[in-house]
Amino acid sequence: MRSWSRGIFVLLYLALLLKTEGLKFHRSDHTERISDSAGSCSEMDVFWGNLGNVGGSAGDVLEDNPVGRLKVFVYELPSKYNKKILQKDQRCLNHMFAAEIFMHRFLLSSAVRTCNPEEADWFYTPVYSTCDLTPNGLPLPFKSPRMMRSAIQLISSNWPYWNRTEGADHFFIVPHDFGACFHYQEEKAIERGILPLLQRATLVQTFGQRNHVCLKDGSITIPPYAPPQKMQSHLIPPDTPRSIFVYFRGLFYDVGNDPEGGYYARGARAAVWENFKNNPLFDISTEHPTTYYEDMQRAIFCLCPLGWAPWSPRLVEAVIFGCIPVIIADDIVLPFADAIPWEDIGVFVAEKDVPNLDTILTSIRPEEILRKQRLLANPSMKQAMLFPTPAQSGDAFHQILNGLARKLPHDKSTYLKPGEKSLNWTAGPVGDLKPW
Ligand SMILES: *[C@@H]1O[C@H](CO)[C@@H](O)[C@H](O)[C@H]1NC(C)=O
Ligand SMILES: *[C@@H]1O[C@H](CO)[C@@H](O)[C@H](O)[C@H]1NC(C)=O
Repeated sequence: MRSWSRGIFVLLYLALLLKTEGLKFHRSDHTERISDSAGSCSEMDVFWGNLGNVGGSAGDVLEDNPVGRLKVFVYELPSKYNKKILQKDQRCLNHMFAAEIFMHRFLLSSAVRTCNPEEADWFYTPVYSTCDLTPNGLPLPFKSPRMMRSAIQLISSNWPYWNRTEGADHFFIVPHDFGACFHYQEEKAIERGILPLLQRATLVQTFGQRNHVCLKDGSITIPPYAPPQKMQSHLIPPDTPRSIFVYFRGLFYDVGNDPEGGYYARGARAAVWENFKNNPLFDISTEHPTTYYEDMQRAIFCLCPLGWAPWSPRLVEAVIFGCIPVIIADDIVLPFADAIPWEDIGVFVAEKDVPNLDTILTSIRPEEILRKQRLLANPSMKQAMLFPTPAQSGDAFHQILNGLARKLPHDKSTYLKPGEKSLNWTAGPVGDLKPW
């Protein structure tokens, strides 16, 4: 009870004093045009306004400009690998894996694109591997390995660049729950491991957890896709008091997939519910209200616990809405961790400490909370979490390019000696070897 009353004091204090800064994450200058017509190299039409450092301190990697630091060659694949799949199910444009589609569109008209593969630093293969949705809109990864394999077969027989490195200068966007392990259940994902043909490639993925077979060295961890226009349309005045102390909407148990409990979210979400369902400081529920985005803007702390995977769109939503993310996912590797000061903007709570969450959060000093809120109000921080159309400087597309640029120049081990082979084309489950 003592910690409650302290919490309520903190809450009132903050509700009265806090005026967070503007939520201006949507910058309209420095835009880059993206259009569906920007398809082939011959009709490529680049428009990239006066891109330079946008405010902020010089040398801040968040505001690095990738243009001039790398060149990307985009393979032209038959549309069955990308556009046709999207035509069948437009929902792929809105779910949390949609980064693979928007990154493709972005690159087609990006200033870093080169039509001359001989001068490319990086090769990109546009495969929409997460666009096979159940009637409920859940992505099924079962065909993804065959599709990837088919695309790699195609590029390696039609162009000389794959064989030169067996993919070490190629990058792939794999936004599945467990990246290129292509399964949504962790046990199965671990059993499968990263698709053998992608062992040498750079993987750009939402999944990030240290010492996990589904995250290999040199990968780039990105935020999940959250719809920028929709979020913007729910912005409320930035001086609205934050009268909710802790906010969370989502599952605590997944009875369908984890009937005995304890496996889902490694029990962390269940622990949140069992310990705090009756605590007035905790506004937590499974019901997703229509005011979800507004509520996050009225909250001081937003819980971001692991679910089946360590990451969720809540991370992005919390940053956009200036709600301090409380990250409960041991060993998580956060998006663009080399550019975003997650330790400063968020609060990290070990999974085993969930029963003490109330004490942990009410013990954070108000000045510390204000400091985190001020950092969260920085538009660069928000911009880096989004994949907007049209693209904007400093957004997630640019952070991905910055990540790729920082990996240059390729080291000598990238290029194989003539005749040298390292990948095994017949490794992995037999089912994956069937034609796609
Ligand atoms: C690349 O290697 C594969 C098998 O190792 C071969 O079938 C293919 O023709 C090669 N590609 C090119 C463009 O030479
Ligand atoms: C490639 O993988 C298959 C299946 O796991 C295995 O039988 C074969 O020995 C491997 N080949 C090489 C050259 O390692």
